Amino acid sequence: MSFATRCRRLAAVVVIIAACAISLTSPRAAAANDYPTRIITLVVPFAAGGPSDVIARLLAHSMSQTLGQQVIVENVAGAGGTVGAARVARAAPDGYTLLIHHLALTAAPSLYSNLSYDARTAFTPLGLVNTGPMVLVGRKTLAAQTAQELIRYFRAEGDKITMAHAGVGSNAHLCAILLTQAIGVKQVYVPYNGTGPAMNDLVTGQVDALCDQSTTAVPQITSGTVRGYIVTSSAPIDAIKEVETAPAAGLPAFDMAIWHGLYAPKDTPPAIVDKLNSALAVALADPLVVERFKAVGTAPFPTSEWSPQAHKARLLAEIERWGRLLKTAGVTPATAR
Ligand code: MLT
Repeated sequence: MSFATRCRRLAAVVVIIAACAISLTSPRAAAANDYPTRIITLVVPFAAGGPSDVIARLLAHSMSQTLGQQVIVENVAGAGGTVGAARVARAAPDGYTLLIHHLALTAAPSLYSNLSYDARTAFTPLGLVNTGPMVLVGRKTLAAQTAQELIRYFRAEGDKITMAHAGVGSNAHLCAILLTQAIGVKQVYVPYNGTGPAMNDLVTGQVDALCDQSTTAVPQITSGTVRGYIVTSSAPIDAIKEVETAPAAGLPAFDMAIWHGLYAPKDTPPAIVDKLNSALAVALADPLVVERFKAVGTAPFPTSEWSPQAHKARLLAEIERWGRLLKTAGVTPATAR
């Protein structure tokens, strides 16, 4: 090797070592290594008392213990979860503002023409949380006692039946769209900032029906405040075995599984992503969390899907899938309301 080549190689090594030293001692790298040193805010993009809020509070409790800093839940509701998502998209990528969101994040690009963020790139996926079915519930004063009676009633009176939902693009709204498609009659959709307040109005009989995640539907059904009619999957939910599945009710296309994921703003440093993903994994393996999930018919994702990479792949695939589904259903930003 010539002297000149040796000099060039030595110079390259020096440059690499210098770059490493700078990155290790830069304020950003140091902050990532020390993380977390203060309270972390977990944004729930729906109202308090709903299923996203319930899941977020379970995670926040466990993750606070693992991270040694308090994780507090903040409900930033509105416009089907897009207001809260936009807030986190704008936040500093320092691990102190996180988002829990579900498949509404993936449907929003097809339903809102004015989003201030790109759902594909605005967030750093930290890991998938839970997945489970939804349940079509009705006020307990409805005359229909069974799924078949309800379907007949909806087909006859659909345009007079008030169907609450949690905002355009929410799970409850997408579920109502699937039901409308399955039975061929559209109900009168009534938007709320989350299924927490929607459920309150269902319990007091101010609306007729709601498609809610099992997380919050199951406790209401078992305590008798609302009536459960159809579970949107082919497997029944243990705690409410008497509630028919969609295929058993004759509506196999009324099939919908929800899922939540945890996010940070884009460009969050890998060291912080690793810490948050590990703390999430501890929460999902916590027997108390697993038991609480099971009791309400939802479940953590299998461990093989706990990585940020698996989460990112699901996010991108679901944006494509909901784009196709909504297009086929003829649902656009203009017709979704
Ligand atoms: C909520 O917490 O209110 C929900 O996740 C709403 C929904 O998407 O149905």
